[in-house]
Amino acid sequence: MKIALVTGGTRGIGGGISRALSESGYFVAANYNKDIDTAKKFHEETGIPIFSWDVSDYDSCIKGVEEICNTLGGDVDVLVNNAGITKDGMLHKMDPIDWHRVIATNLTSVFNMCRVVIPAMREKRFGRIINLSSVNGLKGQVGQTNYSAAKAGILGFTKSLALESASKGITVNAIAPGYISTDMTDAIRDDIKEKIIDGIPVGRFGKVDEIANAVLYLSGEEASYVTGTTLSINGGQYL
Ligand code: CAA
Repeated sequence: MKIALVTGGTRGIGGGISRALSESGYFVAANYNKDIDTAKKFHEETGIPIFSWDVSDYDSCIKGVEEICNTLGGDVDVLVNNAGITKDGMLHKMDPIDWHRVIATNLTSVFNMCRVVIPAMREKRFGRIINLSSVNGLKGQVGQTNYSAAKAGILGFTKSLALESASKGITVNAIAPGYISTDMTDAIRDDIKEKIIDGIPVGRFGKVDEIANAVLYLSGEEASYVTGTTLSINGGQYL
């Protein structure tokens, strides 16, 4: 059985991805950072093992992956870089701390995690890396210079690592979700939410499962010829 690691994998989109992979027969390890109550509840409900560390810290990523490999008895076959935060605000009011936090958690984390898992994937000649970008990395969004920069950065990273890894049986792809119903989008002010929905041709926010299903496809053996691409799943918001 293949081992899949999902960062930020105990709630929101990541929680849905962990569940879907587990139901499809992967050994799943779900990483989380600080929200231990939600993580414990997720573990009780799903039986999926949970591992806590901060993905923006390289040394913690080394330790976290080591612990997972020891616990699950093998190397990571599928890495889903999902962990992400928002610190929205207009640039002219943005605290530099909120710039650095978002870049570290949403973009540097992707370097950290890939850097840690890829040597074993190269040796094994198999790997699947799926990086969660965002429609706002493609089109930009008022109040998200930090988030959009990180999510756009993920796309360049994905294409470059895909080129480096293509001959080693490793695929590296990005998914760019639109607005998906989670705690993150619940936090948007109601008046702004209404404006956003007006701009979505399908007329609603997406569902977590609509992203998780795409992860299942990209994780599978049958997707071995799909690499370096970005799959937009956004209700037609930005094509
Ligand atoms: N489109 C166009 N204009 C917008 C806008 C939008 N979506 N949102 C805000 N604006 C405009 C406002 O109308 C306002 O214009 P005026 O100054 O001309 O009146 C200006 O931008 C400033 O907006 P606010 O008055 O709202 O400013 P604020 O400082 O009170 O709040 C903000 C700023 C916190 C960024 C707030 O605008 C906001 O929450 N925006 C939504 C940001 C967003 O979409 N975040 C996505 C979170 S979910 C996610 O990120 C997941 C994913 O991948 C999709």
